Amino acid sequence: MTIKKDNRATLPSGNGIDSYPREMERVLDGVWKNVKAYLTEDSNLVVKYHDRANLREKMDIAPGIDGLSEEEFRKTVENYLRHSVRTHHKQFFNQLFGGFNLPAFVGEVITAASNTSMYTYEVAPAATLIEEAMVREMCRITGYDDGEGLFLTGGSNGNLIALFSARNKMFPQAKKHGLDRETRPVVFTSDQSHYSIKTAANVLGLGTESVIRLESDEFGRMKTDAFLKEIERAKENGQQPFFAVATCGTTLKGAFDPIEEMAAICSEHNIWLHADGSFGGSVVLSDYRDQYLKGLEKTDSFVWNPHKLMNIPLICSALLVKENGRLHDNITDVNTDYIFHHNEEERDLGEKSIQCGRRVDAVKLWLAWKYHGTDGYRKRINKLLELATYAEKKVKQTNRLELMTARQSLTVCFRYLPKHHKDLNQFNLKLRENLRKSGKTMVNFSHIGSELTIRLVIVNPDLEKSDIDRFFDYLTTEGSKLDHAENGLKNEQ
Ligand SMILES: Cc1ncc(COP(=O)(O)O)c(C=O)c1O
Repeated sequence: MTIKKDNRATLPSGNGIDSYPREMERVLDGVWKNVKAYLTEDSNLVVKYHDRANLREKMDIAPGIDGLSEEEFRKTVENYLRHSVRTHHKQFFNQLFGGFNLPAFVGEVITAASNTSMYTYEVAPAATLIEEAMVREMCRITGYDDGEGLFLTGGSNGNLIALFSARNKMFPQAKKHGLDRETRPVVFTSDQSHYSIKTAANVLGLGTESVIRLESDEFGRMKTDAFLKEIERAKENGQQPFFAVATCGTTLKGAFDPIEEMAAICSEHNIWLHADGSFGGSVVLSDYRDQYLKGLEKTDSFVWNPHKLMNIPLICSALLVKENGRLHDNITDVNTDYIFHHNEEERDLGEKSIQCGRRVDAVKLWLAWKYHGTDGYRKRINKLLELATYAEKKVKQTNRLELMTARQSLTVCFRYLPKHHKDLNQFNLKLRENLRKSGKTMVNFSHIGSELTIRLVIVNPDLEKSDIDRFFDYLTTEGSKLDHAENGLKNEQ
């Protein structure tokens, strides 16, 4: 039989991308070189600081009417990288994330290359199985034997969905009718908890006044006697306590609330206990689990952010819930047969998310976890805690440095005590700003009460003690210079 040739045989198969017939390889090769240089070159600057006006001038921000040539495009990429903060740099101590994770980075790239949404198995088959497997493993480690979970857009969103789940369980009528003013639900959290809790109460129509922020102890931990007292007081007032947050790694001091004690109280008073591990949740993988997270399996939900201590590129965040089915129950009516076809065999993860389109964030965690192994991660998180201990010791041993509060976990809060300047807040603020603008190191600050504290956060497992030594060298050299500069501080009385 002769096969008749027709034009269709010469048409492209449809597998390729036709918009960039010649550029694809050259652009990818060129850009990769820039990316590799950015990630690997030895730079003594975390950032080359420019103020806004200066940076705007250097960056040619506005999208143009005409497109760019290949070379202009490559330079635009290079320029963006040049003016970005190197959060993988070993002198970046500024946020609760940092460092670089090779397998997770590759995961991020292949996630973008295979661009899809987590809502259905049919468009994300491999990613669906991966997200399920990661959630299962994370639930197992947490101690939720029959739990479920979801990757979502960050810890703040995880806190919101935890509160949403609890509201729907405790006040089922709220789903359809909302809450009337007489219901008066109450949420308990410590005064060190993350601001997203109040925002969540606002979003869910509970009102920010429904959140009672209890005074914490000197280390930043929830006081359980105060918690118990407030529950009883609220009940006497006709309010309905239904949700409490145990922060696992507070944003400022890195403190862990006493989960076990809180769990006993919550069980007695029928309160949903949520563990906000947005910062410190990954400690669950370390040998320090019992020291920090004892009783975690007794909580009802847990936010665990691998984009912090596990160094997965932002965003990678999971909400785990002990009661299977609870997340699905949150969703009002998935009647969209243009997306969901309710195929029992395939099971679509989108049916338990309030997002429709949802990024594939589990794949980068999966690759990193496979690459390092659970044991590798155990050692990495151990190392972070041990380096933080070293940094705290350094503060204690260094003349002119004062620890502001005993270290709780990965955060060291301290300040510089100048000889010649009286206003410690102003001095330390200027010191921190000088360091940041020098680009040599980046460390953040906050306030404990009215006292400004420098907050050193150890989240990068590539750090060695020598990097911490270098940080303190930069800081004490700059501190001494500032202390001795005649006009070092503007407006000081
Ligand atoms: C205790 C705590 N909860 C929640 C969040 C919010 O997490 P995300 O930045 O992923 O929204 C943070 C962020 O640092 C945090 O420290």
